[in-house]
Amino acid sequence: MDGVTGAMVNEDGEASGRYIVVKALEDGVVIMGLTRGKDTRSHHSERLDAGEVLVAQFTELTAAIKVRGHAEILTDVGKVESGG
Ligand code: TRP
Repeated sequence: MDGVTGAMVNEDGEASGRYIVVKALEDGVVIMGLTRGKDTRSHHSERLDAGEVLVAQFTELTAAIKVRGHAEILTDVGKVESGG
């Protein structure tokens, strides 16, 4: 995040937010992108089956990511298992 403008983009306008990795440990895991700003809503969702991996990025639009179901989640702050 650019401390001056608050934009999660570099000089070339490319997204520069952190990534997370989600590995589904069962079928039907759902990953939701939640909007940045005053209003929190789900703007996108992805369904993963067991063994599928999603690499997702925090952007100007996405401030939080919600995972429903049994999954392994890797982030900058560590590794956690959801659901199960
Ligand atoms: N719209 C919220 C925000 O920009 C999204 C958010 C960020 C959020 N972190 C969260 C929602 C933690 C729930 C829990 O701050």
